[in-house]
Amino acid sequence: MSAVTDRLPTFPWDKLEPYKATAAAHPDGIVDLSVGTPVDPVPELIQRALVAAADSPGYPTVWGTVALRDALTGWVERRLGARGVAHTNVLPVVGSKELVAWLPTQLGLGPGDQVAYPRLAYPTYEVGARLARAEPVAYDDPLADLDPARVKLLWLNSPSNPTGRVLAKDELIRIVAWAREHGVLVFSDECYLELGWEAEPVSVLHPDVCGGTYEGIVAVHSLSKRSNLAGYRAAFLAGDAGVLGDLLEIRKHGGMMTPAPVQAATVAALGDDTHVAEQRERYAARRAALRGALEAHGFRIEHSEASLYLWVTRDEPCWETVAHLAGLGILAAPGDFYGPAGDRFVRVAFTATDERVAAAVKRLGG
Ligand SMILES: Cc1ncc(COP(=O)(O)O)c(C=O)c1O
Repeated sequence: MSAVTDRLPTFPWDKLEPYKATAAAHPDGIVDLSVGTPVDPVPELIQRALVAAADSPGYPTVWGTVALRDALTGWVERRLGARGVAHTNVLPVVGSKELVAWLPTQLGLGPGDQVAYPRLAYPTYEVGARLARAEPVAYDDPLADLDPARVKLLWLNSPSNPTGRVLAKDELIRIVAWAREHGVLVFSDECYLELGWEAEPVSVLHPDVCGGTYEGIVAVHSLSKRSNLAGYRAAFLAGDAGVLGDLLEIRKHGGMMTPAPVQAATVAALGDDTHVAEQRERYAARRAALRGALEAHGFRIEHSEASLYLWVTRDEPCWETVAHLAGLGILAAPGDFYGPAGDRFVRVAFTATDERVAAAVKRLGG
């Protein structure tokens, strides 16, 4: 019997540890820009909703409360421009990472099936394929690079982690039409959708893209970034009712329930846009400061029109850049964590406090 771990890549973050130690030795402490974890407070109204639901002795349901489903369908229509979204078109998940990792398994994919994802991507798409013993395939352009007879699940990620690239509406239309023509299921990871800076990200659920029907497409949304809720594990799917119905059944058997207080907190979070706008302001200021300082320091920035990251290069191997920045007390993520094509870039997250971002700017000579 082979261990499941044999199928998985080595956890890359361990390789960063020596650089973390170097950066931490800076007299004024490390500026850790290597991970995209929120650092600002959970908005008060969300905390209050969580606390108000603290007395929740019974089991929650996988599909969530009626109030949660109303909040999900309402948000999807209001914010994504989708139309006619019913409760059968939504499904809560326990943060989106578990969904990404277990989706191919829950869809029943296995040997001989391909799971495709962008050439530079969040590593969990590949992990999900490997957990299911399916074949992971990276693409630049799905239409040019993939064999639709073999691909069973196509991941899109716009805005992208790590590059911040946004797929234009025309591009989404082209990909969705191709996938539908060939019966390829599309899952579109849109967890950075509310974090567009120089582009306005569009959902696959927008009627211009999907034609007002959700057949063969599902969008993945997370509250981790938009509402500083990474610690709560709050995310959801929206789209094809048949696919979500199957996932609901499987996830019921698997006990994959969002805790009741988190469901209540999600209702509050999706009903409020003010905290999202406030958080965007914070990130916009940090992004501008880091961007200017990195460019003045000799970095070139590609894409990065959305998301929480700057995708930067000095046209040298990424680990040399990581070492250079660590010497300044700044930790960045090497681009090869996201695929070999990233080996001359590093990813700089702007999820650090104003004080730490100011420290980084100073160290970069800004
Ligand atoms: C592209 C992408 N998808 C999914 C996730 C997982 O987010 P969460 O599990 O917090 O919803 C992340 C987290 O960084 C991400 O970058």
